[in-house]
Order: sequence, then C-alpha cells, then structure tokens
Amino acid sequence: MSWNPDQYLKFADHRLRPALDLLARIPGDSPGSVADLGCGPGNVTDWLRRRWPEAHITGIDSSLDMLESARKAYPDIAWEQAAIERWKPETPMDVLYSNAALQWLDDHPSLFARLYGAVARGGVLAVQMPRNFDQPSHVLMRQAAQDGPWRAALAPHIRHSPVAPPADYWRIFQPLGASIDIWECDYLQTLSGDDPVLQWMLGTTLRPLLAALSETERDAYLDTYRRLLREAYPREADGTTLFPFRRLFLLASKPR
Ligand SMILES: C[S@@+](CC[C@H](N)C(=O)[O-])C[C@H]1O[C@@H](n2cnc3c(N)ncnc32)[C@H](O)[C@@H]1O
Repeated sequence: MSWNPDQYLKFADHRLRPALDLLARIPGDSPGSVADLGCGPGNVTDWLRRRWPEAHITGIDSSLDMLESARKAYPDIAWEQAAIERWKPETPMDVLYSNAALQWLDDHPSLFARLYGAVARGGVLAVQMPRNFDQPSHVLMRQAAQDGPWRAALAPHIRHSPVAPPADYWRIFQPLGASIDIWECDYLQTLSGDDPVLQWMLGTTLRPLLAALSETERDAYLDTYRRLLREAYPREADGTTLFPFRRLFLLASKPR
C-alpha cells in the first residue's frame, strides 16, 4: 500500500489547520528534541521547525514516497524511515508530536502508553486524529465495499473505529500521572471541484481498499462509492461541497 503525496496535498490547507491548532496548544518554548510521528510530506514538520528553530527535529514515517517528497521539499530537516509501532528514540523526546497518523495504528491503550514512555520529564505527547469513522464518508465507503463482487477482497481491509472516544484516552494517561488536555473539534470544511469528498478520501482512507482490487474492480467500486457520496454530500447553490469533519486532540504532559 503506497501513499501519493500529491493526492494527499490537494487539500493541504484543510489538513494543515488542525495541525496548527494542535501546535498552538503545546506549552514549552525551547524543547531540545522534537519528533513528528507519521510526518507524511513534511509540510507540518516544517511548521514545527518554524516554532522551534533551535530544536533537533526528526520527521518519522514508514512511507518512502512520503519521505522522498519531504526530503525534496525540506532537505535540512532530519527524516527517518520507521514504523511508529516499533520506533523508540535513543533518548526521551521533549515533544512527541503526531498529526493525523495514529488512527492508522491499532491497540491505542498500549501504543499511547508506550509513546508517553518515550517523552522526557517536562515534555509532552501531542496528538491529533480524525474521529469520523461514523460519518457518511466512512459509512458509505464500507457500504460500497459490501455491495459488490469485491466484498470478500475488501473485507480484511475495513477498519471500523480505530479512534476511541475522548474519555478512553483520559483513562490511559491518568494512571500514568500525566497532565491531560483533551478536546474535539468539528470543522465545517468547504470543498470545491468535482467529487471533492471522493478526492479527499483517495488521498487517505481509501488507499488500502483500492490496493486490494484489480483495476476493473477498482473503477466499479469507485463508481458505486461516488454515487453514494454525491447523495450524501450534495453541492450547495454556489457549487461548494460541505464536508464536516470531527477531530480529536490530546496533550499528555509529563511532570518534571
Ligand atoms: C494522513 S498522513 C499525515 C501526514 C502528516 N502528519 C500531516 O499532518 O500532514 C498519515 C501518515 O502516517 C504515516 N503512517 C501510517 N502508518 C504508519 C506507521 N505504522 N508508522 C509510520 N508511519 C505511518 C503514513 O505513511 C502517512 O504519511
């Protein structure tokens, strides 16, 4: 399953907004070490560098395509290929930041406890994840996956709700002695162009499904899904498509 940085960056503005909202809430003015987990094409990592020009900043991602795009755009940032589930820093990090990546990983209780363990005293784990798997974009993606001859091929790739309700994350960090700040935000995203919700999904959640299909199946599946999306997300009179999007934010700060 590969990532396409260009498709992902089609909606760079909408995707950047929550990344900056998360960054704005991180306390601490001069961290020595910062890691961006699941850094993707690196544009968000560059914002971390703008905030903390003196820090040693590393962007970590498993996708070579994403890292290549990041390296090309920002050659002076350190980029590292690693799977987050196995990644462990040599020394604890002052800021462990992750925007829109950890929803791709399972078993959040042990993942988040482990990542918090990689945070230095006085440091922070800061995470943003979409929490919209119950929204039409995702429900219809699963419905279309069940409504065709591709059903068996897609079944293993359907994920239901990788991101838990906010209180579950509080319950992970509270016993660890963290100072916790968790909130959600519903962004009313305004998209333009043809089938923009499909275009959005092509850059992220749809990728593992499409990778499991032949070219013919892929086209037929996308036709089915596109039809459903057009009904669920009709164009407004001025041509805009409204795409509400819920995101969960959390900061777990470690006492000194
Ligand atoms: C939706 S993109 C987010 C990119 C970037 N953080 C941003 O805010 O624009 C998710 C990124 O997480 C990476 N990713 C997904 N699962 C991963 C894993 N297990 N280990 C490392 N990176 C992973 C993907 O390769 C992809 O670049």
